[in-house]
Amino acid sequence: MSAKVDEQAAQRDDVDEIELALLLEGVYRRYGFDFREYAPASLRRRVWRRVQAEGLATISALQDKLLHDPACMERLLLDLSINVTAMFRDPAFYVAFRQKVVPLLRTYPFTRIWVAGCSTGEEVYSLAILLHEAGVHDRTRIYATDINESVLSHARTGVFPLDKMREYTQNYIRAGGERAFSEYYLAKYDGAQFQRSLVDNVVFAQHNLVSDRSFNEFNVIICRNVMIYFDRTLQNRVHRLFYESLVTFGVLALGAKESIRFSPFEDRYEDLDADERLYKKVD
Ligand SMILES: C[S@@+](CC[C@H](N)C(=O)[O-])C[C@H]1O[C@@H](n2cnc3c(N)ncnc32)[C@H](O)[C@@H]1O
Repeated sequence: MSAKVDEQAAQRDDVDEIELALLLEGVYRRYGFDFREYAPASLRRRVWRRVQAEGLATISALQDKLLHDPACMERLLLDLSINVTAMFRDPAFYVAFRQKVVPLLRTYPFTRIWVAGCSTGEEVYSLAILLHEAGVHDRTRIYATDINESVLSHARTGVFPLDKMREYTQNYIRAGGERAFSEYYLAKYDGAQFQRSLVDNVVFAQHNLVSDRSFNEFNVIICRNVMIYFDRTLQNRVHRLFYESLVTFGVLALGAKESIRFSPFEDRYEDLDADERLYKKVD
């Protein structure tokens, strides 16, 4: 009996796998978003959540709806591209950035920084504050990109939940912030509106790390908590893109959760900060 139940469950898993592969192929061909090589376990969980939220019974039914209804695709995109972020997230990263990267930025008359996978923009405003306090904000241009247009629209507003400001103030202090954090925003109803001047030099644009090409040469590329969702093949493809987009002696900043180790580009960089995974391109 239990062998039979096991067999049925295994068959269901096989069908699920086929349906998921077809759905991802459909999404890619219809909309150009390539999730085909994303880590399967979390992908399957998220797709099933969307199947249920749409009141459907199977992944194939979701595929049908997705192909004919772009609004449904937008909803799936939000499910798939986990957008969790925070201001001065992982404060130690900003401390290391201030100590190790800012001195390099000072050696250039003008620098370009790419924040890839910027989500709703909290990371970009944090970086802008850091650069402002370091006195290099006005000779920097930041390109902030994400696959998802909805999060970028949010990022452009510069409004973040007021009830987060206590946590963000703590992060800012731990990140080595030099002023009163409240100088940077105005409270408006339940939102905190950050100063527009912080993002005068920021271009927010849609860019898919998996399928789009490089669009400039950068002195620094920051990409944190994005590649954890990619499998090794995809990670290597993105590492190639970053390598080709960085100037010689440019900095790749991955943060504590990601690493260049085991990628084919490992030998092309040297450590600037081993804990916060700041690497300098040397080859
Ligand atoms: C967890 S958030 C990280 C946000 C921010 N970097 C941070 O560390 O707080 C991941 C972001 O990566 C974006 N993303 C996922 N796949 C992407 C892709 N192929 N190209 C560009 N961005 C992608 C998602 O839309 C999401 O906003």
